[in-house]
Amino acid sequence: MPSQFTRLAERDRRPVSLTIDGTPAAALEGDTLLTAILTNRRRVRANEFDQGPRAGFCLMGACQDCWVLMTGGERVRACTTFVAEGMAVMTGIKP
Ligand code: FES
Repeated sequence: MPSQFTRLAERDRRPVSLTIDGTPAAALEGDTLLTAILTNRRRVRANEFDQGPRAGFCLMGACQDCWVLMTGGERVRACTTFVAEGMAVMTGIKP
């Protein structure tokens, strides 16, 4: 699956494993969840009204465009949440 972001630097940070919609994915320690999702996929979530693609907007916690759901039911802003080992996020987007 093509990604929205391409990692150009800092590739030597420790790997972190997570799942995105149940699919195993890789990130690096220190990535935000938004970075982790967009280095693996084209979208962060689907718009709740028309299912249009959303990839965040401000990337700094101001616009509220990057809310995603963790499998435990917690709703988090992807751009202000650091990725953690074993994290399981649901974007609602069908691959
Ligand atoms: S991208 Fe704007 S709050 Fe996350």
